[in-house]
Amino acid sequence: MKVTVVGAGAVGATCADNIARKQLCDELVIVDIKEGVAEGKAMDLMQTAQIEGFDTRIIGSTNDYEKTAGSTVAVITSGIPRKPGMTREELIGINAGIVKSVTENILKYSPDAIIVVISNPMDTMSYLALKSSKLPKNRIIGMGGILDSSRFRYFLSQAMKCSPNDIQAMVIGGHGDTTMIPLTRLATYMGTPVSNYLDAETLKKVAADTMVGGATLTKLLGTSAWYAPGASGASLLEAIVRDENRLMPCCVMLDGEYGQSDICIGVPVHIGKNGWSKVVDVNLNDEEKAQFAKSAEAVRNMNHVLSTLNI
Ligand code: 2OP
Repeated sequence: MKVTVVGAGAVGATCADNIARKQLCDELVIVDIKEGVAEGKAMDLMQTAQIEGFDTRIIGSTNDYEKTAGSTVAVITSGIPRKPGMTREELIGINAGIVKSVTENILKYSPDAIIVVISNPMDTMSYLALKSSKLPKNRIIGMGGILDSSRFRYFLSQAMKCSPNDIQAMVIGGHGDTTMIPLTRLATYMGTPVSNYLDAETLKKVAADTMVGGATLTKLLGTSAWYAPGASGASLLEAIVRDENRLMPCCVMLDGEYGQSDICIGVPVHIGKNGWSKVVDVNLNDEEKAQFAKSAEAVRNMNHVLSTLNI
């Protein structure tokens, strides 16, 4: 099986590293527009193969998509990352054109590929990739909810002083500082509500920290994060290539589910070899439904910006 990662920046390279270590494919192609960077990262990663014990062959390509031909899944990480103080939404002008042309190039050589979108603003980039490619909706998946949910579980575990592995929790809605919805009411510690252990004020702070999780890291690092975004992309890819039928919060095109249509936004979906297959209704209460409607409105407004761009 062959897999492509487009973008050899920090997120793309980390994603490729995770894919290789988990040996999720036989061949992994990394593509970047900057001369030599993808080849260099591929060679550097291949020089970990003996140490890590993986057999995945990794090759790099400077913008030559012919090398990606026959990929089962392609992960798009291309575009510019956030700088401190920037929102993900501010990247739309530059990243939209990049994501559209990368999608076209992937499908030219891998017409059956499932596409995983990481580039920001991720909800709008997923929508753009779907609209411009006219692919069946099951084949375009934005990974934001996996990342945001992992951050939510991290912040909950910090407050609980427990392992993130004992927390079940999910973030739905948009992948933006003000659009994500950490579902605190449904979060559990080994199946018991986290509200049994944390007071309302603490839970509010955990949700707020989760929502600005990416911005906090951007401020600390001077650019946007890569370990958790790269690992999230690889875990989504793993669920696809291993046909795991996992339930993951991902950004997908809705057609009436959660009261929304013609929008890509985060909801829990089944993930397997055909991409995503089914949206799961988690029975939101009235307050959460209102939050979801508000989040969708903001994502939709961002999608409208696409029509003002010359792409
Ligand atoms: C983040 O939240 C890059 O959007 C990504 O870190």
